[in-house]
Amino acid sequence: MRKIVIAIDGYSACGKSSTAKEVAAILGYRYIDSGAMYRAVTLYFLEHHISLTNPKEIIKALEQIHITFKVNPKNGTDTFLNGLSVEKEIRKMRVSEMVSQVSTIKEVRVAMVEQQRRMGKERGIVMDGRDIGTVVFPAAELKLFMVADMQVRAYRRQKELLDRDQMVDLDDVIENIRQRDQIDTTRAESPLRQAEDAIVIDTTHIAFDEQVDEVVRLALSKIVSASRA
Ligand code: CDP
Repeated sequence: MRKIVIAIDGYSACGKSSTAKEVAAILGYRYIDSGAMYRAVTLYFLEHHISLTNPKEIIKALEQIHITFKVNPKNGTDTFLNGLSVEKEIRKMRVSEMVSQVSTIKEVRVAMVEQQRRMGKERGIVMDGRDIGTVVFPAAELKLFMVADMQVRAYRRQKELLDRDQMVDLDDVIENIRQRDQIDTTRAESPLRQAEDAIVIDTTHIAFDEQVDEVVRLALSKIVSASRA
């Protein structure tokens, strides 16, 4: 069977990552969390006090940043920044509060997209993010665009944070999601938008297993047609 590329884009906290992880596990594909890469860059910028308005400093910093993923049977994958696991750190609010600003920077996007394309060379991947179907893999065989009501998204994100021992007020979660949606959809460089050939999945009212089944069904049909072609 031919291996395909599955691109999952959408707003923050719509269930992209959890769906992508599960679908990748079922298909025996590799899951790549592109958001974790932008979060890792943000963490590096925070820790090294990189000025977001100094392109020279940014380019120099990007040369020092090496992001890798390791499979972790418990939660899918762990993100490593220069050899150290940053999985916990990159999910914290201080990173969430800055990541969308960092993601507007052209130099950052160019560096991340190049790495993401390299990771997808072997195909057989499920990648989630904001510009995967539109910019990173415009020829992906399956493109999905996930949406959900704000309240549902905020509850889900708050629960995820609680599971990681982080107590965050629901209003603060909503505020962060709103701000990121706003920056992500209006930035000049590859803004978040639905690819013309993407299938929309609204996860507001469907159970997690249902949404995974639906994506696996769509993927299998694309795998069959790609193998026939
Ligand atoms: O998990 P959540 O939906 O909160 O976001 P994420 O996937 O971890 O991404 C964090 C941020 O990185 C987003 O709000 C975007 O600003 C940025 N991002 C991006 O610009 N392009 C991507 N392909 C993925 C993430």
